[in-house]
Amino acid sequence: MHKITIAGCGRVGESTAQILAKEELCREILLLDIHDGVPEGVALDIQQSASLLRFDTRVTGATDPAAMAGSDMVIVTAGFPRKPGMSRSDVLDSNLSIIDGIIDNTLRYAPDAMLMMVTNPVDVLTWRAWQRSGWPRQRVFGQSGALDTARMTSFIATQTGYSVKDISALVLGGHGDAMVPLARFTDIAGIPIEHFLSEADIRQIAERTRQGGGEILALKKHSSAYDSPAAAIASMVDAISHNRRRILPCVGILDGEYGQQAIAMGVPAVLDENGLVEIIELNLNPEEQADFQRSADLVRADIEHLA
Ligand code: LAC
Repeated sequence: MHKITIAGCGRVGESTAQILAKEELCREILLLDIHDGVPEGVALDIQQSASLLRFDTRVTGATDPAAMAGSDMVIVTAGFPRKPGMSRSDVLDSNLSIIDGIIDNTLRYAPDAMLMMVTNPVDVLTWRAWQRSGWPRQRVFGQSGALDTARMTSFIATQTGYSVKDISALVLGGHGDAMVPLARFTDIAGIPIEHFLSEADIRQIAERTRQGGGEILALKKHSSAYDSPAAAIASMVDAISHNRRRILPCVGILDGEYGQQAIAMGVPAVLDENGLVEIIELNLNPEEQADFQRSADLVRADIEHLA
């Protein structure tokens, strides 16, 4: 990819820019924000680390959305994070108009881009972005499952003492407390997770995964997570920019998959240079399907709230 715009220069946006720049996942990164001076300042700071971290990515900042022109991807991180005690849905109303504005600017200035949604509630706002843009679903998707799965992986690694490199976990569903960690699709070096952990341990890891973002927010109080969300975004960008055809859980627009219509939520998807090109439908057992449905019902309630 040549140019990526990161819309929203908060902590997630800034950390994302740092990783994308360092990994040289594109030639040029534009940080866009409405607060005069902030994106320019953050961009300068990152740019000045280039010789130390040895990257040639060019990082700039702007408040004028016209600067998005020529972007291959727009990553949307702008908006209000939740405060302790709030659910991700509680920030829907305040983030909706911000997101609508960014989508409209993307349509105007970067009509050929892909849109990666990150702002919460991410499933609902991915749905909104898809509807408002009118773009094919392969160009409009969201990040959540890469992060939720990374959290589950990290808890398994801590609990078992084995390398994260050998652990493959999977979390589907909406990015909320009803997300669906799938132990049956989780293994260490190909060996089912049940071989290493008791049922009680697995249940506890699943619950901690569901509360993963909330746990960090409760500890930090004034900030949500941003290091792991940024790394999760970067893993998706890497899959796309290197045309890897990685299978990552992403927020995708569902059109009958998993028995769902008119909704966006986390499912395993193939990412390549054209975006989210395929949704992989798993054969869920009745209990997993019921969990997925419960998660879908919550996302759908928020989508209906939009109308
Ligand atoms: C989290 C927020 C960013 O899960 O949704 O940390």
